Amino acid sequence: MKFGYFDDVQREYVIERPDTPYPWINYLGNEQFFSLISNTSGGYCFYRDARLMRLTRYRYNSVPTDAGGRYFYLRDGDDVWNPGWAPVKAKPDRYRCRHGLGYTVIESERNQLAARQLSFVPIGADCEVHRVTLKNQSGAAKEIKLFSFVEFCAWNAYDDMTNFQRNFNTGEVEIDGSAIYHKTEYRERRNHYAVFSVNAPIQGYDTDRESFLGLYNGFDRPDVVFNGKPGNSVASGWSPVGSHCLGVTLAPGEEKSYIFVLGYCENPEDQKWEAPGVINKEPARRLLDRFRTDRQVESAFDELKNYWQGLLSRFCLQSEDPKLDRMVSVWNQYQCMVTFNMSRSASYFESGIGRGMGFRDSTQDLLGFVHLIPSRAKARILDIAATQMEDGSAYHQYQPLTKRGNMEVGSGFNDDPLWLIFGVTAYLKETGDWSVLKESVPFDNDEKKSVSLLEHLRRSFGHVLHNLGPHGLPLIGRADWNDCLNLNCFSKKPGESFQTAENMESGVAESVFIAGMFVYIAPSYAEILRRGGFASEAEAVLKAAKNMEQAVIRYGWDGEWYLRAYDAMGNKVGSRECEEGKLFIEPQGFCAMAGIGMEKGLPERALDSVKEHLDTKYGIVLNWPSYTTYRLNLGEISSYPPGYKENGGIFCHNNPWISIAETMAGHGERAFEVYRRTCPAYLEDISEIHRTEPYVYAQMIAGRDAPRFGEAKNSWLTGTAAWTFYDVSQFILGIRPQFDGLQIDPCVPSWFKGFTVTRRFRGAEYVIEVRNPDGVEKGIKTMTLDGTPIMGNLLPDCADGKTHRVVAVMG
Ligand code: BGC
Ligand code: NOJ
Repeated sequence: MKFGYFDDVQREYVIERPDTPYPWINYLGNEQFFSLISNTSGGYCFYRDARLMRLTRYRYNSVPTDAGGRYFYLRDGDDVWNPGWAPVKAKPDRYRCRHGLGYTVIESERNQLAARQLSFVPIGADCEVHRVTLKNQSGAAKEIKLFSFVEFCAWNAYDDMTNFQRNFNTGEVEIDGSAIYHKTEYRERRNHYAVFSVNAPIQGYDTDRESFLGLYNGFDRPDVVFNGKPGNSVASGWSPVGSHCLGVTLAPGEEKSYIFVLGYCENPEDQKWEAPGVINKEPARRLLDRFRTDRQVESAFDELKNYWQGLLSRFCLQSEDPKLDRMVSVWNQYQCMVTFNMSRSASYFESGIGRGMGFRDSTQDLLGFVHLIPSRAKARILDIAATQMEDGSAYHQYQPLTKRGNMEVGSGFNDDPLWLIFGVTAYLKETGDWSVLKESVPFDNDEKKSVSLLEHLRRSFGHVLHNLGPHGLPLIGRADWNDCLNLNCFSKKPGESFQTAENMESGVAESVFIAGMFVYIAPSYAEILRRGGFASEAEAVLKAAKNMEQAVIRYGWDGEWYLRAYDAMGNKVGSRECEEGKLFIEPQGFCAMAGIGMEKGLPERALDSVKEHLDTKYGIVLNWPSYTTYRLNLGEISSYPPGYKENGGIFCHNNPWISIAETMAGHGERAFEVYRRTCPAYLEDISEIHRTEPYVYAQMIAGRDAPRFGEAKNSWLTGTAAWTFYDVSQFILGIRPQFDGLQIDPCVPSWFKGFTVTRRFRGAEYVIEVRNPDGVEKGIKTMTLDGTPIMGNLLPDCADGKTHRVVAVMG
């Protein structure tokens, strides 16, 4: 069942009813100021860091779900409703929510009053703009009251949720005309405040939650709105809110619009005050002046649209399949931008409080983002590398505001360092900017310990080599990519974190997955070294990879598939000898991608086993059989009921590894099948089962052992976005950046007749038409560049700012 449709021309997903199977959200903001907004206008916003600089509150675990947002209440006679349906939930006569690229439009109508809420974060501004347009569709005049509402957060979202004994006393506001200022803690150590304003005179305001709602009321029944009169309350402690009351008179057919701006402002330390106790409002006035008129809002909105138009022109697909086109050309890339911005911090499944930026997560996100804005990818690489330690290990997470590693989680995830090489390789292949390797980057943010980025890569690679176990395979540490395979943890204490408890210093538990990754990365890394003038070191890297490959063939092959690991006692994990958890997806993906044991046909054998044992109609499950009991030696993985998350769930993130490996084996049909099964646009028709947004990937879909097989969770912030884009763009469509140019190497189902990709690459545009007259799955027979035949399938780096026509014929 569908709850909306894709509007491919507008690049919007249009939701046709407010009661979606789960809140279907969108992200506003691209640089510093970010908002989450659901199809009922729920959500919150923050400046740079969802934990430390939260402007508005949101309630997790709330009943009803999705409580807290920027709400507009309309009082039309005695009738009270919201354009976004929630929180009053009066049934609209008409409702549409259009989630677009960086903006959301909610259009609804009730009793012949039409409302349109346009919400976006303008480029280069630290605020969200909501333009509310009201139109009287009836034949009689209407006297309406429009109330706005946001609830402020005392900045540090964790403290705000927990430290009531203090926070109920610190809340402070100022009101100046139509502008409400939230200035909690500004009197002491903060130099920033929030402003919430509207571009019209107001009849009154409220800034104290209790006065606005009534102590025992929910957002669905605010006293002030139902009484039709603002309380003019001034918050003093408790919970500061911002609410404007506007009187709106509309003649028949008349339309009026109001621009609400909710923004973040800061002052230099010595210019905090206008007068004693009165905040310096200069930055707020400057901000509000930018969005006072409809024309200003429209031009900011156009700027945002052009921004996205520009970004998405960098990779654009036209094929016979509209679902594929819209995912590749629009939504998958859009999600890659969001994951780049958010890492795993703030979504409707990530609180914004717990996790900041992940070392592994953010380096992987680069794979899907680097072609969009390479300069930002570079800055991110340097930030991440600066959280690495001298021995090559890395903080697993860091806060975007401080850019410091998070001590609570620490390091010890032994795959982390390798992802840095992965991210840097992707950057080099996209840009050809070799100078990045010479950038000076500190260890652990200590400037005194600065070395070149290339040296960071060396430490990364070296970290694996210095931490090998009894079989010559990499020691797993706390976990590898699978955060829940905690082989040194042995946790018996309820509530103890599986990620940080490490009470079995085994020095024995090894990961075949890390081995596969090591071998996969080695050729690119060796090439980087060779081009940097380190030929013998490059040789040593390739030799180390050969040794690793031998170790996998010898100790990491189980007969029909690659083994997953050795536990702290040296017992096999992911082997046919195991009672449960016989087969895991991760090493099949990476070892096959690395071509380990190719001469013996191991990759193909492993891929067959995946198909045989892990395939389901909704995607490939992570392991089989799922663990049915808690296993002390395995950790968090066995804490999940069978079929969920890393225990037999369809972890979408590693499905593309299999798809990529299948392209390497030349299996276009199968590669596409794997791609399609987890791809949201193809799941739109079963939204009632899938439940999360049909325009973005979710981290996990419940596997076949779960009672809710097919139900997705944790949408938006997942490495799936980058990996599926990497898969479909570089391996299925085969438009693959290489160190020396753009390689064209598609691997598609034989029934693909062809497609065209427009790709901006290193300062030139290539319009690449791929034809498949013979119905093959892989192989380019001939290729022309601007009509001239070229040898092989590598497009040279034209770098001339011009558009080039490429015709590649498969066969
Ligand atoms: C989740 C993992 C996640 C880890 C780290 C676990 O509970 O299942 O997917 O990576 O926590 O926060
Ligand atoms: C989610 C984490 O963000 C990611 O880094 C990890 O690889 C997967 N979970 C699998 O555990």
